[in-house]
Amino acid sequence: MGKAKVTFQRVPFKTDGAWQSPIAIPRDDIQVWGIVLEVADSELSRAASILSHDERERAERLISEEHRRQSMAAHAILRLILSRYCGASPEQLAIRRTSDGKPILSDYPSLRFNLTHSHGRALIAVARDQEVGVDLEQVRREVDVVRLAERFLSERDLAFVKHGDPAHRHERFLKAWVAREAVFKADGRGITFPLHRDYLELTGDGIKDCLVLGDTASGERRRPVQFLSLGPGWIGAVAAEGTDWTVTVCNRSESHINRET
Ligand SMILES: CC(C)(COP(=O)(O)OP(=O)(O)OC[C@H]1O[C@@H](n2cnc3c(N)ncnc32)[C@H](O)[C@@H]1OP(=O)(O)O)[C@@H](O)C(=O)NCCC(=O)NCCS
Repeated sequence: MGKAKVTFQRVPFKTDGAWQSPIAIPRDDIQVWGIVLEVADSELSRAASILSHDERERAERLISEEHRRQSMAAHAILRLILSRYCGASPEQLAIRRTSDGKPILSDYPSLRFNLTHSHGRALIAVARDQEVGVDLEQVRREVDVVRLAERFLSERDLAFVKHGDPAHRHERFLKAWVAREAVFKADGRGITFPLHRDYLELTGDGIKDCLVLGDTASGERRRPVQFLSLGPGWIGAVAAEGTDWTVTVCNRSESHINRET
């Protein structure tokens, strides 16, 4: 147990039938995959062939070649991973979006997932029978995080950001940020302003912390959040609808996407 340590891995764009042996996912488990978003020239047509028409169009609309490739990689790999849970081929999966934009698997309603991508890395979280949200941010030292916290976050979060060693302010700001995004994405609403009614509460158990939502009519509501250990320069968190869940970090074998035991 402890902080879930995620390694970002490159995933080959192979549809080799691995989906025919589906991965089981217990109800209280949130399975998290760390992905390097790279597509080699030789893989482009293979990756594109996994995508739906809409996904290809969305990728093609992006201006930079790098972003086009990353979007293509993220969505092709999302399909490869989800196919392993559904026991269906990646190309066949019907991925739709809710009115707020959250992608869902309409033919497999008990399987829930969420995707985040940033600067060539992605996280995919998969759950069963409970909504899940995940967020990933790269630490950018040039950003004035105290100013951002003053402007957008709560007094308590601002105090958290300013507390202790100034060298770690960016990480603390991003913790307050990704906790919100993970919870809001689990709820399917995306980032919702204002953000200053909520605050991060560190529980000190070394595993889960809480985002305290202050926007409810019935007072404060605590939502568990687990920060992921992603290596230097990255901050990420996962949140789910329920309270009694744990995180399993997944991996792939050389030949196909596979769950690490
Ligand atoms: C969704 C949102 C949180 C993305 O945040 P981000 O940090 O820029 O990006 P991330 O990489 O973490 O997440 C993006 C992914 O989240 C997923 N996503 C999109 N909308 C979502 C939602 N409402 N809830 C949960 N997940 C969502 C998608 O898979 C998306 O990737 P894709 O566009 O390549 O498919 C942000 O765009 C947002 O808050 N949107 C609000 C919803 C919105 O704009 N609604 C329109 C009405 S005004």
